[in-house]
Amino acid sequence: MCGIIGIVGETQVSDRLIDGLKRLEYRGYDSSGIAVLDGGKLKRSRAEGKIKSLEAKLNDTPLDGPMGIAHTRWATHGVPNETNAHPHFSGRVGVVHNGIIENFTELREEMSDRTFESETDTEVVAHLVDHLLSTGLSPIDAFSAALKKLRGAYAFGLIIDGVEDQIFCARAGSPLAIGIGETEMYLGSDAMALAQLSQKLIYLEEGDWAVLTPTSFRIFDSNDNAVERDITILQGGPAVAEKGNYRHFMLKEIYEQPETVGRTMHNYIDEFRLAADAPEGLDFTDIDRIIIIACGTACYAAMVAKYWFEQVAGIAVDVDVASEFRYRNPVVDKRSLFMAVSQSGETADTLAALRYCKEKGLRTAALVNVMTSTMAREADVALPINAGPEIGVASTKAFTSQLTALAALTLAAGRDRETLSRDGEIRMTRAMITAPRLIKEALELDPKIEQIAFDLSKSSSAFYLGRGSQVPIAFEGALKLKEISYIHAEGYAAGELKHGPIALIEDGTPVIVLAPYDTLYEKTISNLQEVASRGAYIILITDEAGAASAHDMADEMIVMPSSDGFVAPIIMSIAIQLLAYHTAVHLGTDVDQPRNLAKSVTVE
Ligand code: G6P
Repeated sequence: MCGIIGIVGETQVSDRLIDGLKRLEYRGYDSSGIAVLDGGKLKRSRAEGKIKSLEAKLNDTPLDGPMGIAHTRWATHGVPNETNAHPHFSGRVGVVHNGIIENFTELREEMSDRTFESETDTEVVAHLVDHLLSTGLSPIDAFSAALKKLRGAYAFGLIIDGVEDQIFCARAGSPLAIGIGETEMYLGSDAMALAQLSQKLIYLEEGDWAVLTPTSFRIFDSNDNAVERDITILQGGPAVAEKGNYRHFMLKEIYEQPETVGRTMHNYIDEFRLAADAPEGLDFTDIDRIIIIACGTACYAAMVAKYWFEQVAGIAVDVDVASEFRYRNPVVDKRSLFMAVSQSGETADTLAALRYCKEKGLRTAALVNVMTSTMAREADVALPINAGPEIGVASTKAFTSQLTALAALTLAAGRDRETLSRDGEIRMTRAMITAPRLIKEALELDPKIEQIAFDLSKSSSAFYLGRGSQVPIAFEGALKLKEISYIHAEGYAAGELKHGPIALIEDGTPVIVLAPYDTLYEKTISNLQEVASRGAYIILITDEAGAASAHDMADEMIVMPSSDGFVAPIIMSIAIQLLAYHTAVHLGTDVDQPRNLAKSVTVE
């Protein structure tokens, strides 16, 4: 959700800023811009659209200098156009911002003698600092005084005409990291932005602000006290993701799943003992309830986990979307475990839910892909999924890894709470260990799914149905289709469809039915028949036994490899991902960067 990068050094920064922006493009991509100090003079270039538009502009009219800031935008206030693109300038000040300044209208009114060019909330920050400079304050005092007047969530990078060698930055609510170099300092929204520049990072804490020069950094807390923060050394070299021979990151990430699911499993499953272990600090025996909070795809993983934890470990589980949970003053009990599920570990609403429960004295855990993220750092226990960088905006491999980790934690909880027998644990652990192979087999269905997707791409709406732990997979299937193909889709509990949405079924309406051959299979098939008899075009996703029993009830059938019912949600996910992917490709949409979406949503 907007990406920021900054460099203050001795050599030209323009190319490296653009390079950093490209790595941040997953955070927002409706416009971008760069500002540099060249001979002490503030200059900028901005463009609507993807970063390649900015690059083209810079090719025509180059811009460079030894320090600069750059930004890729996901619009909140003001349409995506060049005027609203960052950096915003006022007088001597240039600023890039991620987040929302909630009191920007009030501040604009206070400075009504000034001319505002854009519709953004951000521009007010440039005016505010410029105004404070004009009252005679030094740059550092003007910056710190401006911060005190802002309400909302933000991460900033700010430079000042005539103030060579200094970048000012601040963090409140939106992540920001400093990269340490020998003769340069860097600023970035995340490690990905800084990957090629520095392996030594400092993650600013809430309310921190800092001044960077080519050879130093000074960090202050929200009370302006100088503070020291830990330096994190990034392991394993730059976390740069390449598309390889794949047409899209999303396809590559779908195909990585045999490996990523295996990798997640290694964190939680002992393949020799055939046992799952809860990581240190996570005790399922002294809790009455688990509260799992997440957004988007991560929330659907949490919903599957509800079925698992309740059935296998006998623990009550509440799942809620973070944006609702955080504002309804939820009643929480100290004997509950709070768990955030988040690929990025930065989603603003999920983070707020974690902080709420921490404040209420609950033990907290964060299941994340990015172990340097704010949630991983703030939760009592950080649980890795190790899926590797996920670049496609529509989440795929992170989802199956979240499911894998949650499945393993369920087994650990069941064993520790004595609701799962040793035999049961062995059977279910074995089932989990087969998952990477079954995913590989499922991927072989790709050509068949592509062909089915061709028909689906001609529809204007679709339904996904499932029962039990397949309900959240139906939700996820519909979400995947909506977000990348722009076809309207709804996921429903199969038994619920007749209570309203069945009215929308017409001749040819595609209904994708998720029905592995389990105890709920026959019930789901009855619901399939209800819609089939009203003219629906049925795409049945089942397994071999299910296919044998379904005969000719479906118009199309995707026959997944048979699996233990426990891991079936993980295996079935592959089909709905490929179906959405190929539908979008047939329609020619921008699969990796779908319109209006952002990968990491750090605003409310
Ligand atoms: C955005 C992304 C989704 C993701 C959701 C939650 O909406 O586009 O793919 O599921 O945020 O993100 P998180 O990083 O918390 O899992």
